[in-house]
Amino acid sequence: MESMKVSPLLTEEQIRIRVAEIARDITRDLSTKVNDDDPTIALILANGALFFAADLLRQVEAPIELQVVRVSSYGAGTQSNGMPEIIGGVSLDKFRGRRVLIVDDVLDTGHTLSKIKKVVRESGAKEVRSCVLLDKPSRRAVEENADYIGFTIDDVFVVGYGLDLNDAWRTLPYVGIVSEK
Ligand code: IMP
Ligand code: MG
Repeated sequence: MESMKVSPLLTEEQIRIRVAEIARDITRDLSTKVNDDDPTIALILANGALFFAADLLRQVEAPIELQVVRVSSYGAGTQSNGMPEIIGGVSLDKFRGRRVLIVDDVLDTGHTLSKIKKVVRESGAKEVRSCVLLDKPSRRAVEENADYIGFTIDDVFVVGYGLDLNDAWRTLPYVGIVSEK
């Protein structure tokens, strides 16, 4: 990592403002149909979406249960291998008859969201929605989209606010672009 540098792309302030806006949108959409007997399950894709989900979901004013799942699509490096695998976290029987909100960090090629949506639907969820901090539409390899999007960005590799490159830079409070020094 010594030969790499991170240039700020989204400041803490920009993220904070946008996250609050998305929380309001989700609250609005959920409040019409949710009651205490029917909480939404927020399915958080760890580790990338942990900080985003923590900031976002604390501001959603509707009953929510948390589930965390790990999905691996990358070995080391910046390219998806196209075959994301769920490597644990949640028992799929939890989703039967439930409304599920998937929360991920980046929608990139689309393989991860596509796979997780399929699994959740096949587990009997009655409604599946998705929310991503970042969308890179120019990188899409499969047709996929999210219902809530924080920021649409170009084809750049970013880190911080939960996102990593080989586990580095995840805890930066802002989002920055990684490049060679
Ligand atoms: P997809 O399956 O290609 O859509 O990739 C989604 C996953 O790739 C995300 O959950 C991230 O973990 C990872 N990813 C994609 N782009 C970036 C990036 O710019 N920085 C860090 N991780 C990324
Ligand atoms: Mg990830």
